[in-house]
Amino acid sequence: MTKQRRHRQDPIKLDFEELFSSPGGIARDDYEALLPRLASLRDEVGRHDVELWESGHDIPPEKRPLDAGFIPLPERLLADYETQRSDSELGRILQVASELSERVDRVVLLGIGGSYMGARALMDACCPPYYNELPRGERAGRPRLYFEGNNVDNDATTGLLHLLQMPAGSTPDWAIIVISKSGGTLETAVALRQFVRALQEGGIDGEELGRRIVPVTGPGSKLSRLADALGCPYRFPVPEGVGGRFSVLSAVGLLPAAVLGLDIVALLQGAVAMNRRFLETDPAENPVLQYVAIGHLMEQQRGATIRVTNVWSKALESLGLWYDQLLAESLGKEGIGATPLTAVNTRDLHSRAQQHQEGRPDKFHTHVVVENWRTDPLEVGTIGTNEDGLDALSTVTLPQIMAAAIDGTREAYREAGRPGCVLRLPELREYTLGQVFQFWMLATVVEGRLLGINPYGQPGVEAYKRNMNRILGRS
Ligand code: PA5
Repeated sequence: MTKQRRHRQDPIKLDFEELFSSPGGIARDDYEALLPRLASLRDEVGRHDVELWESGHDIPPEKRPLDAGFIPLPERLLADYETQRSDSELGRILQVASELSERVDRVVLLGIGGSYMGARALMDACCPPYYNELPRGERAGRPRLYFEGNNVDNDATTGLLHLLQMPAGSTPDWAIIVISKSGGTLETAVALRQFVRALQEGGIDGEELGRRIVPVTGPGSKLSRLADALGCPYRFPVPEGVGGRFSVLSAVGLLPAAVLGLDIVALLQGAVAMNRRFLETDPAENPVLQYVAIGHLMEQQRGATIRVTNVWSKALESLGLWYDQLLAESLGKEGIGATPLTAVNTRDLHSRAQQHQEGRPDKFHTHVVVENWRTDPLEVGTIGTNEDGLDALSTVTLPQIMAAAIDGTREAYREAGRPGCVLRLPELREYTLGQVFQFWMLATVVEGRLLGINPYGQPGVEAYKRNMNRILGRS
């Protein structure tokens, strides 16, 4: 069923020629005229801001917060791993992940927003579908992974607690990874209580309780103090200067990925490769700058204020939602910033495509296309009757039908004056995901600087938290 897994390091590719030749697109001259400005923003974001952040002082008020730490992070983690192996952060992540795998069959990840969405995207993109339903052998001996603490949904929490319950007399076979940079987010903190209590009720206490809870948090946070009280021996930091939605390539995403047995070195290598393309490639060949240019011009000239990420694989829905958060929280400020929307095709062709084709022309489409499927192609086949009229397609495969749907949709959108771009992913593996994460994070920051918005921080989210706490009578 599954093809031989080769380790490839192919680059992701951006294809947007149709924007220059179709009605509803943009003029090549305008695009080319924008590139020098983007090249100077690339230097500001990738060099000047990183140096400013590293120096730790003289950060001008309009640049605060300056969370540029995500840019050099992949290189740093890999370099430390190269020289210090098991003493490096990556070495410790791998060690704790394998210890968890040996001790338990299920892990509950508690976290919300940037402390959740990256891990979810990695699991859905790189693990087989229905991973949690597979027997342990088919999970390469790795634990199942569940996500909670991303809501305060009574039924969902109860449902998972119920699922985790063990027969009378057996010890719980699960552990918790709790991720919160601030360490005080109510959704995550409340869930932690529920799940710690369930471990305690299952007879886990003392040293063993501490070993079953792995916090990933900022220094001195409430969660860090709670971890002291519970005696948690394993902890990981959310590095200074790395904002929540920019933290997927820190322990926030790497620890859960390692628990799932994913190749976190390849993930970081993919990000390093994208950093290099961003910093070293000529603007006209630079996918990050190209992506910013076309999205910006489509918004300014065509009123395309909605960015639709059309993912042509079910495994990429969570990646689309991760990008939705990144774009929304980074650029949705000061009354501007494009609105992100993920569509999963072909599913959403049957729900959204009518509007995308004929509704308000306020959308810019990015089609995320995977070039190689993980599994062997399924044929339509025969079933001894042709009432459904499919015999003529009996030797056609699902990937061929998908390719026809992609080409047919793009052609229809183009003819309706709604051209877009294609982000081509060679395959759904860690190296590809590392490139994509870094690609979108860098593009978002460059676009923020282009718009004159600080892409870091999310001041608007604080108001609901203040109100909620007031209503709950919390100071
Ligand atoms: O991008 C962000 O910073 C936010 O989405 C946070 O990740 C989210 O609010 C969760 O915060 P914390 O990790 O502090 O619990």
